[in-house]
Amino acid sequence: MGAQDEPRPPGFFAAFEPNSPRVELGSTRVRAARSKDVLAVARVAAGRFAGLDEGAAQLEGRAAAQVDRFERTLTPSDGSLPGVPRLFVAEAGLDGGAPKVVGYGTLFVFTAELRERAGRDLGLDPAAQGDGQLAPVGWYLGGLVVARAARRGGLGRALTAARLAALDAAGVTEVRFTANARNSATLALHEPFGFQVEARNPRMSGLAFSGGEGLLLLRRKP
Ligand SMILES: CC(C)(COP(=O)(O)OP(=O)(O)OC[C@H]1O[C@@H](n2cnc3c(N)ncnc32)[C@H](O)[C@@H]1OP(=O)(O)O)[C@@H](O)C(=O)NCCC(=O)NCCS
Repeated sequence: MGAQDEPRPPGFFAAFEPNSPRVELGSTRVRAARSKDVLAVARVAAGRFAGLDEGAAQLEGRAAAQVDRFERTLTPSDGSLPGVPRLFVAEAGLDGGAPKVVGYGTLFVFTAELRERAGRDLGLDPAAQGDGQLAPVGWYLGGLVVARAARRGGLGRALTAARLAALDAAGVTEVRFTANARNSATLALHEPFGFQVEARNPRMSGLAFSGGEGLLLLRRKP
């Protein structure tokens, strides 16, 4: 999550290509991240901006600037379900090389405290649950990014399945995520998991949708 008002390069959202063939990535693995993965995760996040930055040094700087954020994701302080990993990584050995982190997915909890604070920041009434303005308290799928070279190989789906399985195992019955309404690729990815649109243009602190169109999607376990 974060303010999304900085310039974005082409490919920041994957182009919607429903009929593209699957890409064969060879051996892949999705697992809970460890501290030593954080820089690699930050590099994947920074790689989303490739094409906007001029070169490797700038991308590396962008990655370094995100390390603290992912450290905090890895070791959250909200006290919610401490056994549930908050950061998952996907590894693949691209071009026959050794396996390396090429994707990540996060989980986060929008706590009552965060919601109160968001309400104050945004001038919204935190008591107005379910009015579609201020996002509801609960578990959210957070950032999901797969490096461009590894897209369409099933890793985005696998990272999502792993995060949902962790929440299912912990007895969490409602999971949400927010997406830009124009990000058709991610909407297509999540749809088979049972997500449905719950609200449009939800608000959280620091969350803005480029183009102004945001969706809040909910998966409710029967
Ligand atoms: C969205 C993203 C994570 C998908 O990762 P991925 O590893 O390429 O996705 P998968 O290969 O697991 O795709 C699973 C399914 O999602 C859908 N999908 C994924 N990418 C798609 C695309 N570009 N166009 C259309 N459908 C797409 C398809 O239904 C696909 O199944 P299929 O390949 O059998 O047709 C990746 O494109 C990405 O990092 N995008 C930029 C960051 C972003 O937008 N993140 C989402 C924020 S909510």
